Amino acid sequence: MCGIVGYIGHREAWPIIIKGLHRLEYRGYDSAGVALQNGDLRIYKKAGKVSDLENFAAHEDLGGKMGMGHTRWATHGAPSDRNSHPHTSGDERLAIIHNGIIENYATLKDELISEGHEFRSDTDTEVLIHLIEHIQKKTGLDLRESVRVALNEVVGAYAIVVMSKDEPDQLIAARKGSPMVIGVGKDEYFIASDASPIVEYTKNVIYLNDNEIAYLKRDELLIKNLENVVKTPYVQELEIKLEMLEKSGYEHFMLKEIYEQPRSIRDCMRGRIHPEEGLVQLGGIKEYADKLKNVDRIIIVACGTSWHAGLVGEYLIEEYARIPVEVEYASEFRYRNPIITDKDVVIAISQSGETADTMAALELAKEKGATLFGICNVVGSSIPRLTHAGVYTHAGPEIGVASTKAFTAQVTVLTLMAFYMGQQRGKLSTSQSVSLLSELDQIPTLVEKALKSNDYIQQIASKFKDARNFLFLGRGTGFPVALEGALKLKEISYIHAEGYPAAEMKHGPIALIDEEMPVVVIATKNSSYEKVISNIQEVKARKGVVIAIVTEGDTEVKKMADHVIEIPDADEAFLPILATIPLQLLSYHIAVMRGCNVDQPRNLAKSVTVE
Ligand code: G6P
Repeated sequence: MCGIVGYIGHREAWPIIIKGLHRLEYRGYDSAGVALQNGDLRIYKKAGKVSDLENFAAHEDLGGKMGMGHTRWATHGAPSDRNSHPHTSGDERLAIIHNGIIENYATLKDELISEGHEFRSDTDTEVLIHLIEHIQKKTGLDLRESVRVALNEVVGAYAIVVMSKDEPDQLIAARKGSPMVIGVGKDEYFIASDASPIVEYTKNVIYLNDNEIAYLKRDELLIKNLENVVKTPYVQELEIKLEMLEKSGYEHFMLKEIYEQPRSIRDCMRGRIHPEEGLVQLGGIKEYADKLKNVDRIIIVACGTSWHAGLVGEYLIEEYARIPVEVEYASEFRYRNPIITDKDVVIAISQSGETADTMAALELAKEKGATLFGICNVVGSSIPRLTHAGVYTHAGPEIGVASTKAFTAQVTVLTLMAFYMGQQRGKLSTSQSVSLLSELDQIPTLVEKALKSNDYIQQIASKFKDARNFLFLGRGTGFPVALEGALKLKEISYIHAEGYPAAEMKHGPIALIDEEMPVVVIATKNSSYEKVISNIQEVKARKGVVIAIVTEGDTEVKKMADHVIEIPDADEAFLPILATIPLQLLSYHIAVMRGCNVDQPRNLAKSVTVE
């Protein structure tokens, strides 16, 4: 959720921090703030976007070679100037930025109020900096120790950076449950919630672990855990490139990411498929081949779009590997008493690799002895570090809040896993594998072809941009695709949209259908094609307006539907990827026509690191 960036070194900090905040704005965009150290501690903060902060501070003194910045997604306290980060201690000598939630903040706040502390904001973050100040004053400990002691009293999740007016050469950063990366330069260090603000300055990074505190000076880095034990940092080389973080001429990141899919799907499969031999190789899980061969049940946990990918995975794994699969909303799974044993394999799907509910579901499964796999996009994020094994999606950084290329990459990985497990368990013959993998190898080209309908889809979008409701219907793997289509539309255009299994329509949603109701139907040539045609007739009989996604050359649906969008023909296994493309474009164009902020839709955040 919130984005954090920090710098200490020989360059001016403000431009680095502001640029970093722009790169992190996808994590939260309701307010932003910066603290700079130049003998004094100067803080500029403002409700609104990072650009509002820039305008606000344009004529201020922005000098200083050390500083930190924050872009917020509100949890405690409405978006406002006073709730924006950085927050300061009572004497205004200490400042903090924070991503996460301090769960026991109310108790701590009451205690601090009884000790005479006065608060200026409604945030949990301000409580933490007052606690640090309180410990420092009461015990006489230095700032390093006061932060450590304070963090030992905190329940919850955090990534924080602290700086002091009195210590012009020190930044203190710590994490528990919220991500934090340290970039290592020459006599300079960078801190950020993810590597995107760092990559243009250095490729060498350290991913801070949970319960670790980093003490950073210009030319010195010391990492300790909360028990005060010194830890040896592991410096890794970043794989992302700067151009992956730019819009590269596209109007929005979302459109760029939609158009990147031929490339991202290819990157996702690179080195993993050998069509001539009919072989799938997944290095990240190969040590667990035996486990997968004998597993009786797979549970998939995820949230949002990743959950939809999980549903596609359920169909594919059951079909090709014949392993029973359950797909769970991570948030629901963790709060009931799920039956999990050490025989189970639990797969977490997460673009960011840091969704709090998905992490918590995994932790629960870990306690019960399950084998944990991750399907994540962000390399080095928390979920891959928690799981026993996994497969990265390699889609590259996804900046648009509405997930597009991450979804198709997740589905690609699940397709690969389904085929891999099918082969391991003898459910997929070599000839079937050869044929499926040869076709899979062509999917990036077919996605490219599907993208060619863009102009036509834009025309359709113009007809429906003022609709108040939308229904999306599909059967089989078309059902999760319908759910994803509805989610995309509501996320970015704020039109109410529901995804439904086409046959379930008659048990409720059919009552909503009239001439005002656009109904998007996934009507590709698959095993439920005939049934879907009946469902289209049911909609038409009630004067609904049908937009059908069909396989190229289709003639049947064309006779009934008001609009048809063709996708290339392919084996049923690959239809979820191909059918998703026009739905992404449809929601994109509708949102643009409605004047919505496509990349930063209201109230949403790219990675949800709170419950
Ligand atoms: C947020 C994002 C969604 C995403 C979901 C799960 O709601 O806006 O796009 O699908 O979180 O995120 P994850 O990173 O775990 O895939």
